[in-house]
Amino acid sequence: MKAQENKTGLPLVQLGITRPEELTGLFADLRGSFDNDCACAHDESAWKVFRDRWLGRKSGVLTQVTDNWLKPATPVLKRVVGQKLNELRAHVESQIEARRAAIESGAEEAALTRERVDLSLPGVIRPIGSHHLIRQVLQEVEDIFFSIGFSIVEGPEIETPYYNFEALNIPEFHPVRDDMDTFYLDLPKGVPAPLLLRTHTSPMQIRTMEKQKPPVRVIVPGKVYRRDNPDATHSFMFHQVEGLAVDTDITFCDFTGTIEYFVKQFFGPGVKTRFRPSYFPFTEPSVEFDVSCIFCGGSGAAAGGGVCSKCKGAGWIELFGAGMVDPAVYGFVNYDAKKVSGFAFGMGIDRLAMLKYGIDDIQAFFQNDVRFLKQFP
Ligand code: FA5
Repeated sequence: MKAQENKTGLPLVQLGITRPEELTGLFADLRGSFDNDCACAHDESAWKVFRDRWLGRKSGVLTQVTDNWLKPATPVLKRVVGQKLNELRAHVESQIEARRAAIESGAEEAALTRERVDLSLPGVIRPIGSHHLIRQVLQEVEDIFFSIGFSIVEGPEIETPYYNFEALNIPEFHPVRDDMDTFYLDLPKGVPAPLLLRTHTSPMQIRTMEKQKPPVRVIVPGKVYRRDNPDATHSFMFHQVEGLAVDTDITFCDFTGTIEYFVKQFFGPGVKTRFRPSYFPFTEPSVEFDVSCIFCGGSGAAAGGGVCSKCKGAGWIELFGAGMVDPAVYGFVNYDAKKVSGFAFGMGIDRLAMLKYGIDDIQAFFQNDVRFLKQFP
């Protein structure tokens, strides 16, 4: 191209061309040089440089031919130079356009190849999660009670002391509050009632009875909070399921029958149960409910000798507190204590899950270690 560039920069006289037939070779060389250039324009940016070199208005090759060969040509040469220049221009313009189209379609093809979705490739395999074991156990408990006519209600985790304590027959200076020393919310000045994170699901006994007349048969799953130091069996946040049944003729037998039915459904028919006297301000009589230790079968002895570490040799494990609703509680919800009776219970779901699935540290539920979670798909 360089040689051609030099030639197009000079008038024909200086190139020694005086006769029309000498123009044929000159233009053929120029066209050959154009064709070589054209073949080298492989992408868009190279094509632009190439186009400007040949068609550039100020100093493109065709402009130079016009200015240096055509304009100063002798009358003898002028007609043929004009004709050859027109032929060359037509060739140059059509080839430049064809090259552009080729580059564009090539780029499109390359982009298509790059972006094509290959449906035969293995996809991104995302691990499928599962319900947390606590959610699974809650579901099991709900299903069992649902099957015997209980409905499921939920209540607020932020409570007033009235519902968490007073209406449950726990007045302000009752010693039971010491065990439930708890989390109070920092509220802006002027907010009248203190608020706390509920320490048990029992406030929902009151809220439910306030809303509906007997018969009542509900269970209340939910989170509760206590200022307990974390250890293998305690957490400051844990889960309870409250149960409440109130009607005109509910007896202690209904209560034991219901609870035993639940335990046998949940742990299996082989498990033994017992009640021990206990105390809750909102039930009278109150009981703790125990099941025979599922780890040692109730023998109290470990398989390899020595005492069972789970029940500490007792053969029994405490499951939850319960009792017949204290008549004093009915006074807070406008039920007639002479006409109605009922029972209530409150079980710790985390401990139920630990017992059923042989988990020896409650903290495992809250650490979110996938190796632990994966064991309960
Ligand atoms: C109560 O919370 C009563 N509201 C239960 C009740 C309801 C009695 C209705 C009578 C009638 P208690 O404080 O014992 O009771 O707690 C009930 C269960 O919650 C315990 O048996 C235990 O399984 C579980 N629990 C208590 N504290 C913790 C804790 N810090 N971490 C994990 N589980 C706990």
